[in-house]
Amino acid sequence: MNSLAVAVPFKAEIRAEMMTKKEVQKKIQELRAVLVDANEKYYRLGRSPMSDEDFDFKVKELAALEAEHPEFALEASPTVAVGSDLSPGFRKVEHKYPMLSIQNTYSEEELADWHRQVTEKIDPADLEYVVELKIDGVAMSLVYENRKLNLAVTRGDGTVGDEVTRNVLNIKSIPTKLPPSFPDDRVEVRGEIYMTRQNFKTFNEYSLLTYGKEQQNPRNTAAGSLKLKDPKESALRKLDFFAYAILVDKPDGTHWGNLNALEKAGFPVNDKRAKVKDVAGIMEVCADWLKIRDDLPYNIDGAVVKVNDLRQQIQLGRTSKSPKWVIAYKYKTEAVETVLESVSYQVGRTGAVTPVAHLKPILLGGTLVKRATLHNFDEIERLGLKIKDHVIVEKGGEIIPKVVSVVESKRPRNAETIEPPAQCPVCGSDLTKDEEAVALRCDNLQCPAQVTRSILHFVGRPAMNIEHIGPALVESLLKDGLIRSVADLYFLNQEQLESLERMAEKSAANVIESIQGSKTRGLDRLIHGFGIRFIGKTSSTLLARHFKTLEALRAASLEDLLAIHEIGDRMAESIFKFFRNPITDALIAKLAEAGVSLEYQGAEGSDELAGKTFVLTGTLPTWSREEAKEIIEKAGGKTTDSVSKKTSFLLAGEAAGSKLEKAKKLGVSVISEPDLKKMLGLS
Ligand code: IVH
Repeated sequence: MNSLAVAVPFKAEIRAEMMTKKEVQKKIQELRAVLVDANEKYYRLGRSPMSDEDFDFKVKELAALEAEHPEFALEASPTVAVGSDLSPGFRKVEHKYPMLSIQNTYSEEELADWHRQVTEKIDPADLEYVVELKIDGVAMSLVYENRKLNLAVTRGDGTVGDEVTRNVLNIKSIPTKLPPSFPDDRVEVRGEIYMTRQNFKTFNEYSLLTYGKEQQNPRNTAAGSLKLKDPKESALRKLDFFAYAILVDKPDGTHWGNLNALEKAGFPVNDKRAKVKDVAGIMEVCADWLKIRDDLPYNIDGAVVKVNDLRQQIQLGRTSKSPKWVIAYKYKTEAVETVLESVSYQVGRTGAVTPVAHLKPILLGGTLVKRATLHNFDEIERLGLKIKDHVIVEKGGEIIPKVVSVVESKRPRNAETIEPPAQCPVCGSDLTKDEEAVALRCDNLQCPAQVTRSILHFVGRPAMNIEHIGPALVESLLKDGLIRSVADLYFLNQEQLESLERMAEKSAANVIESIQGSKTRGLDRLIHGFGIRFIGKTSSTLLARHFKTLEALRAASLEDLLAIHEIGDRMAESIFKFFRNPITDALIAKLAEAGVSLEYQGAEGSDELAGKTFVLTGTLPTWSREEAKEIIEKAGGKTTDSVSKKTSFLLAGEAAGSKLEKAKKLGVSVISEPDLKKMLGLS
């Protein structure tokens, strides 16, 4: 195999000396903006716009510029401040001991620099390091009082975190009690919450089915699960834990001893841990673990090196951002070179056609990679990709590898330009491309690829919530001609289902019961179930509330639709077009015949906001105040006009005035419309 494992270069290419002061200032501002945005997305939205490595590289670049130009240094710079994962709607708990970040490096040289700094204060003869795996998860602080688990708190901004105890109680591997060998006053245990790759895979399949959404990676899924409002929902996502620290007022003994004590107390402690004396020892362990990295059932992104003696740790102290006794040696993203053999196209539920790269098979991180995602056709153009090109393929925290660049110097003469397909690869219909959307699209609602996926969307949890129907069943129903659209589901009988392979009497009865039970879900879920382009859960609910019946929505003109504050041009056109399609007419007629409710049933008996009092101020981005009030009240919340200590949340929009000031003064949580939508599970 003519492949080559390429190391991603990691060298700060800082040419500050060649830049004018103005240029430096501009560069600093740009880097800060990019990093603040990335931090925000990583912690709050659970999605990161760049790889960890890019992020770390940019932080280093910024730190170097700030060091050279202290006049531009800033207290709140991302080089100093810890990113924040705080979310609205969670009780804020102050950390007794701040939760700092750790310094990190990708190079042996920097590791040696760090070791040198440590040995300036600690005699190498007395020095020992513990090396552990750096688990790619979410930091967690567990507070035990009287040997009972009392609080579980996220890192938050390092000083204050979100309390997520109810969700953490679902993690079976976390002991709720400490043994008598532990003190009976406050004990804090820190560790990492993570999701195994297997559990991620299982959950991702479920997510695709029920939410129509793929999760980005195990870390982000774990972070998102901790922030769910419903602990039952959170329990569905199987999380795990590794403990790596005990915090007490007067630390004594060794970190190694603490790890053993944690293990004895029943905490899961990673068994990959080693004691070493110097940089060579650290490097050896790191190299060994890199070899087994892909055999581990969870993702790691490097190793953590800690000074073993707890008193030496105190002696070494900290900077504002991180302790000086610990460093992470991070593994470079693994990248390999291979050849792009062909490109095929997949058709999604909404008809989006996405290109898939077919590669000359290559080992990457222990698995044989044959395919990689290319996201959309613009990506092919951005990369300047041609068939037969040599390409660099990377595997980040994600499961599916991606093509990151083309080795142009190796382009063969006979490399072929990749032409966007004109026809759907599944049904042959002409593809369209709308102006702002990057995706190519198949508009044929009867395209088999779309039919399967749209049925799965219809039965999914946020839509009609029909249990016991998965991809295998939908495919055999379609294959045997028992259904052609979602409406046909309602006409299935027990006998037909039992005729399918692997369908027992009891299972068939369950399927029928679930289908019949979904008839009264109501208009909001039905609209969502239709899977109309650009119309998600929130807009479906708004449309249902506004029009009350499917008949009224169907008769709505473009103007009627546009008169709804939240419905923009694109959405209005999409809805209008959907209801002018003869296939939609046939579908609705059949649903009506089956007795599926086509009317709004009112808000579901939700109580997400029970006991919470809201005050509204300013102009909200999409909801009118009246709409917002109605939504809050339907979810069991109360609204009042003035802010007091009893106010739970101030929902603030643009140009918020005195109410905002008062809320801040009284320490009332201030939230935005997107925050409220998140609380209600609407986004
Ligand atoms: S020690 C003050 N040990 O990595 C030092 N952290 O990028 C506390 N992490 O916030 C952290 N595995 O969430 C430590 N074995 C390990 C770890 C670990 C993963 C995480 C942790 C930390 C982050 C820093």
